[in-house]
Amino acid sequence: MVADLYFELLQTAMKRAYAPYSDFAVGAVVRGESGRLYSGANVENAAYPQGWCAEASALAAMVIAGEIGLTEVAVMAEGDQVCTPCGGCRQKLKEFALPGTQVLCYSPDELRATFLLEALLPHGFGPEYLS
Ligand code: THU
Repeated sequence: MVADLYFELLQTAMKRAYAPYSDFAVGAVVRGESGRLYSGANVENAAYPQGWCAEASALAAMVIAGEIGLTEVAVMAEGDQVCTPCGGCRQKLKEFALPGTQVLCYSPDELRATFLLEALLPHGFGPEYLS
C-alpha cells in the first residue's frame, strides 16, 4: 500500500471531476498489475444516466494503456460518509481485479477505510463464469 502517493493523485483527479449536476466530485486511482497508476474522475452529463463514475474513468485509462489486471483501487470524495464504489463500479472493478484487491477510501483529508473488493461484492459474477 502506498497511501501517500494515492493521496496526491486522488486530490488532483477529484479537482478535475465534471460534476455540475450532483456537485459531488469523486477521484479514483487504480493500480495495474505492472504497478502503474491510472487516475480518473466522474464525468456527468445533462442527460443524467449518460454520466460515468470516477472508477470507470480510471479503469478505461488502464485498459487503454494495455493492462487488464489490477491490484488496488483508491477513491476520494467529500462528505461525512465513507465513499465506497457504487454497485455498478464494484462489478466493473471485479472484471479486472486480481484476488486480494484492496479498495482504499479517502476523504480529502485522510484515508478513512480499507476493504477487500471481495467483501464489497461477495459472490459476484465474473469472467470465470463465461470461460
Ligand atoms: N460517483 C463516483 O464517481 N463514484 C462512486 O463510487 C460513487 C458515485 C459519482 C457518480 C455521480 O457523478 C456522483 O458521484 C453522484 O452520484
